[in-house]
Amino acid sequence: MTDTFAEKAKMWDANPQIRALADLFSAELDKIVPDHSGLAILELGCGTGLVGLRYAEKAASLDLVDTSPAMLDVLRAKSEAQAKQVTLHHGTLSTLVGQALATASVDWIISNMALHHVEDIPALIGNLHQLIKPGGRVTIGELEAESGTFHAPEVVPHNGFDPAALSRHFAKGGFIPNKTHTFLTVPREDSDGVTRTYSAFILDATRSPGE
Ligand SMILES: C[S@@+](CC[C@H](N)C(=O)[O-])C[C@H]1O[C@@H](n2cnc3c(N)ncnc32)[C@H](O)[C@@H]1O
Repeated sequence: MTDTFAEKAKMWDANPQIRALADLFSAELDKIVPDHSGLAILELGCGTGLVGLRYAEKAASLDLVDTSPAMLDVLRAKSEAQAKQVTLHHGTLSTLVGQALATASVDWIISNMALHHVEDIPALIGNLHQLIKPGGRVTIGELEAESGTFHAPEVVPHNGFDPAALSRHFAKGGFIPNKTHTFLTVPREDSDGVTRTYSAFILDATRSPGE
């Protein structure tokens, strides 16, 4: 499988817009879960760990999952990734659930800007549901629906999401959506030289205790 992040990985952490987005998403996470001490945390699409590694010190366990070997190589070289409670996984959730990752073992799954790269969202939500303990939560940062210019000329499975539609997917998948809100609206000059405005939103949901 081609690693579409192979080239991007080299410069990922040096990109100020990417770092700023990771900072803003992390600030939202800290508002939603002010104290993550002792939690079993998993990050889906962790990339180079710009978000997830902030949780390495206090989490009981931190599992970092990504499909890109190149992004994981950058992450693996960081000192915080060497902590004994941190585990790196190469692959999709579907290949890891019930294997490297035990079912109903995670308190909190976080993910920043990874869902739009995943083809089958209902299947992914099914995997999230399998992994999260009843009453546990998932907090997603995602691109709001756009026309496809954000990644152009690259094509990705989803040109962002309508937050309400994504919430409905989570509700169908056994989650109670807590809230969605826009946390960033920013102009960006695209590869065609045109400046367009993009937004990112938070979706936070709890796994129904009874299902
Ligand atoms: C836009 S990057 C975001 C990286 C990181 N979350 C951040 O905020 O810097 C998306 C990441 O999701 C990963 N990814 C794409 N599809 C995935 C999948 N099905 N399962 C796990 N990771 C995936 C990519 O390899 C990439 O590292």
